[in-house]
Amino acid sequence: MLQDKHVTLTVSGSVASYKGAALARELQRAGATVRVVLTAAASRFVTAETFAALTKAPVLTDTGWWHADGKIDHIELADWTDLALAAPASANLMAQFANGLADDAASATWLATAAPKVVVPAMNTHMWQAAATQRNRQQLLADGVQVLTPATGLLAEGYAGQGRFLEPTDIVSQLATLPLDAQTTTALSGKHLLVTAGGTRERLDPVRFLTNDSSGKMGYAVATAAQQAGADVTLITAPTKLPVPSGVTVVPIESTQELADAVLTRLPAADGLVMAAAVADFQPVTAADQKIKKTTDNDELVLRLKKTPDILQAVAANKRPDQVVVGFAAETQNLLENGRQKLTKKHLDLLAANDVSRADIGFNGDNNQVTFLFADGHSDQTPVTSKRAIATTLISHVAEIFNQK
Ligand code: CTP
Repeated sequence: MLQDKHVTLTVSGSVASYKGAALARELQRAGATVRVVLTAAASRFVTAETFAALTKAPVLTDTGWWHADGKIDHIELADWTDLALAAPASANLMAQFANGLADDAASATWLATAAPKVVVPAMNTHMWQAAATQRNRQQLLADGVQVLTPATGLLAEGYAGQGRFLEPTDIVSQLATLPLDAQTTTALSGKHLLVTAGGTRERLDPVRFLTNDSSGKMGYAVATAAQQAGADVTLITAPTKLPVPSGVTVVPIESTQELADAVLTRLPAADGLVMAAAVADFQPVTAADQKIKKTTDNDELVLRLKKTPDILQAVAANKRPDQVVVGFAAETQNLLENGRQKLTKKHLDLLAANDVSRADIGFNGDNNQVTFLFADGHSDQTPVTSKRAIATTLISHVAEIFNQK
């Protein structure tokens, strides 16, 4: 995706500014030609000479910007750009971009660029969480700018939080999965999509529950891909350890019953549903009000379980013909046969069948391999690839199905 692309990399002031140099290298390794803009603050952390040597091209800075020789550097650079990438992007840079300011070389170049734009934030966790930064993030998303979700981990301040700059290799692999042309960034615009994620929890008592191995990664990747394709996304999620994806509305749930209620009340106002949640099939017949204690006469404890409601089955009964419903099938054997049965039984438009018996892919990992089964009988197997890449493919199938309805 980056092969032969002209990437303008805007580096702003941050302890992560030096990682901009490694990122320039990674972009080149992926086949891009890179030119760099440094903000005044970035120039206090790293030098233009480093980037000029790496990119073998002049670096645009505030010094010497606007010459009297008739060259208008920021317009020339903006017109050259196929992809504008701001990384690391400070809170201040995001605020400039979100408000359309053009008072320095970086912001003027950004504003003048018509190419797709991606922001990779890096900042202190409190600055990231500040209402103003989140407002700016929302504005950028509304303007069609992709905003990657910063990593959570140890910050330069010595404490942990969300706001860490993503690793350059991770940024480049995320760029490969982003819909960056106008066609894909608007493939689902105007559509409201419900996405479910994570493993539901069925309470035994106030401190114990039954659950499964789902990490929620697949559902979160689908929510992100749908949002990046222009959809209005509601992510209904069981508890996970994942950061909230940019620009989606999150509805937290715990049990299968709560998930069913959340889906069924929102379904009439939605255009589609992707059921990526790993739903518990059984729940305790009764949950104890108080913690179950060990006593001298309970060496064995018998749990009585009953079936949970099948949400997709209930959805099928209420679904309008214009709605697109996608299910997943977690199988340990007879993947295609079982998948096809679920597709028919649950009246799905598309089913992603997943072999969960393999240790290298599936439940907890970052990679997956699915076979897409379509209602018209054809199927399509993906290679083993990142869940993000699979989510992007799934969303492009959803867009095609909407077009055919
Ligand atoms: N699903 C659902 N409600 C349930 C169980 C599952 O809506 N009570 C959804 C899942 O979110 C998934 C699809 O149905 O999209 C298939 O889930 P899976 O666990 O593979 O299949 P089940 O229908 O539960 O059948 P089995 O466990 O017997 O394979």
